[in-house]
Order: sequence, then structure tokens, then C-alpha cells
Amino acid sequence: MNVLILGSGGREHAFALKLSQSKRISQLFVAPGNAGTQQLATNIELNPTNFEAVKNAVLENNIKMVVVGPEAPLVAGIHDFFLADSFLKNIPVIGPKKDGALLEGSKDFSKKFMQKHGIPTAKYKSFTNNNLSEGISFLETLQPPFVLKADGLAAGKGVLILSNLEDAKAELKEMLTHQKFGNASSTVVIEEFLNGIELSVFVLTDGKSYKILPSAKDYKRIGEGDTGLNTGGMGAISPVPFADDDFIKKVEELIVKPTIVGLQKDGIDYRGFIFIGLMNDAGNPSVVEYNVRMGDPETEVVLPRIASDLFDLFEGVASQTLSEKSCIISPKTATTVMLVSGSYPDDYEKDKEIEGFETVENSIVFHAGTTIKHGKVVSNGGRVMAITSFGDTIKEALEKCYNSIDKISFEKMNFRKDIGFDLIEK
Ligand code: AMP
Ligand code: GLY
Repeated sequence: MNVLILGSGGREHAFALKLSQSKRISQLFVAPGNAGTQQLATNIELNPTNFEAVKNAVLENNIKMVVVGPEAPLVAGIHDFFLADSFLKNIPVIGPKKDGALLEGSKDFSKKFMQKHGIPTAKYKSFTNNNLSEGISFLETLQPPFVLKADGLAAGKGVLILSNLEDAKAELKEMLTHQKFGNASSTVVIEEFLNGIELSVFVLTDGKSYKILPSAKDYKRIGEGDTGLNTGGMGAISPVPFADDDFIKKVEELIVKPTIVGLQKDGIDYRGFIFIGLMNDAGNPSVVEYNVRMGDPETEVVLPRIASDLFDLFEGVASQTLSEKSCIISPKTATTVMLVSGSYPDDYEKDKEIEGFETVENSIVFHAGTTIKHGKVVSNGGRVMAITSFGDTIKEALEKCYNSIDKISFEKMNFRKDIGFDLIEK
């Protein structure tokens, strides 16, 4: 069977690697892909939110399953587009329809969903420009830090955490009145600040049953010791020591089951990944956000730990037989360290030739922002490559990552040297 993966990051390279190991797949395509996916699959140059282009690629290449990496095509309704098209309607799409994708596409929707189904999350209220003054008054009732969230997708930048009340009021006005994040901030969620340590929990569901995949911890800040600007993610670790069986059982009972049942009750037929970003406050989990896709760079540590055939699991999702499939997880620790362009997440230069990555032996090199120019692999994004290694401990896996990174170079390459600093066994 021919399968198409949509997207171009490290996450999609990890999907491609895992799917390429399935004997059941004859040809694998990635659109648009990167220099890494090109070695495992056929890249197709198209924008995944251009549904007509996706349709042409699917029909031309006799594709029988589409796996959607990023959220944008899901929120824009790619799954609904397939179902409404007479040529595409029987081709399964791994990823929710528009109604389910709202869990990520609208913070207001996801907060309402959690409240309705009794899922633990921070207390909140939503505001528009019409009730801005109520929003200002609401801020005055809260303790700092203040959390403001643009309702819609804002390229990962729509969440502001402010320690000062006057700044929070000014930002609320910027978002609602001056459309700081365009349409995405025409509604703003103001919520209580949650203390604790963050964890990414991943669930695959066919709408009826679900599998909890390995959980991971992501390092989002650019600077060592979790300082500086937010990025797409600078590294990740799986499993996470504090997310032991007891804690995950609690997450399953309090969050995963009510989420799956809530979707069913609300008539949302959800087939795909649910990424639960949660805060663990002294053993009590609450949801910070839902995403309707896998995380990046979490995928680069989660998928390598799945020993089962990923395509078989996807077939279970498509035919709603996931409960019959087994999902075997390796007990090994996987860590990944992201190599990024100099000055990322601010403006950065591209087209830097990447050297040495072919000589890496003890790690998996996942390409993210890379492309091929004049026969050479060059950088093409802020996050360039994720280097994943296995070990019996976090420390052992990370040592392998950093030894592999010593072999790789490109102009102004940057990476965090302290991934896992808060978790390493002392
Ligand atoms: P989100 O896009 O909702 O994941 O928010 C981005 C980041 O902001 C999260 O990963 C958290 O680190 C932080 N964050 C969001 N909401 C809260 C909250 N209520 N309390 C504390 N931190 C938060
Ligand atoms: N690593 C966080 C995300 O993918 O949103």
C-alpha cells in the first residue's frame, strides 16, 4: 500500500522512518518533506494546506492512506475535504476532522470541552473586544502571573505569561482591540497560572478505544536552565521519571478517559493523535492544552520507543479496530537534542551546509529544517536536525547524543547542552 505523510519537520522524518520499517507499505511519500525524508521516501513539493494539490498527489501516486503531521491542515479541514470528495472519501486520513481539531484550533472551545466533561484544567474566562472592560476587571481579581491566550492558532506564539498586572491589561487590549495576533486573538482566554512540571502525554484513538503512547518531556526555552525565548522545542526525553505507572494511571482516569468519552458524547468522531500538554502539580495532573497531532521534538523520542508496526496501528485507527492491535513499548530511555540555526528563534540565516551527520553511528539523525541545494544538504529552517539516542539511563542516552553532535557542524549551529538537566539521576 502507498502512504503519504504531510509535513516537513523532524516529526515527519520520524514518522517516515517508522513507517518505512513496515513490510506492508510499498511506497512512502512525504509532502513537502526534507532532505532526510528524501532518503527514505519520495518527497512531493506541495503545501499541505493546499487541498487540491494534496488530492492530485494522492490520485497520481495511488495513495491509500494519508498521515497528517502538523495541525494547520487538520484545523483547516483536510479530513472533511477527503470525506466530501467522491474520489478520496475511502482513503483514510490519520488526524481528526474539523470538529475534533478545534481542541487545538480554539482555546475557548477546548476550555469549554474540559469544563463540560469535568477534566482538570486551570480556571478561565473568555473575552472579546465587546467585553474588554470585564476582561480588565477579571484580571484584577487574579494573582500574578497572568496567563493570556489567543483563542486561535498563532504559530505557537499566542500565549503570554505576564508578572505585572498593568502589562497584562495592556497586552489584553493589544490582543483584542489591536489584533496583536490577527483574527486568532479576536477572542482571548484568561486563565489561572498553574504551578508544577510539564509533561507531554500522547494518545492514539480510533474514536472508540485508545492507546496511551510513551510520554515525554520537552525543553521549550532557547537558553540553558530553561531561560530565554520559547522555541518549537530544543530537546526531549522519554520516559519521564516522574511519569511513572501510578501517575499515568491517574492521567488516564482523570484526563484520557473523560476526553475520549467526552468526544463521543459530543458526537465528534475523532481518529488520530491527541497530545495532552499537562502540568503535574505535586502528583495532580491538569491540562494546559490539547494538540491534535504529535509533538515535535517529542515524536523523535516517542516513535523510536514503539516496537510495534506503526502502520498496523494506523490501520486500526482507520478501521476502528485499534483495540485489537498491540502497542509494545521499549523500556529503554530515548533522548533527543535539537540542532538549531544561530539566533533562532529570532530571525536566522538559512542555506548553511551541514557537515558530518553521515558519520554518526550511535544516534538517529532526524532532519527537520533541511533541504538539498546543489547536491549538498543545507539548513532550511530554525530547527535543523534532532539527534536521538537510546540508553539505559537518561545520562547514557544524552552522552551518546552529545558525542554524535560533536561530529556535526554548520555555520552558527546552536544547541542546548543541558537537556534533561532537571531529570538526570544525581
Ligand atoms: P499552550 O500553547 O497553551 O501550551 O501554552 C504554551 C506554554 O505556556 C505551555 O507549554 C506552558 O509552559 C505555558 N502555560 C500555558 N498555560 C499555562 C498556565 N495556565 N499556567 C502555567 N503555564 C502555562
Ligand atoms: N513540542 C511542543 C509541540 O509540538 O507543540
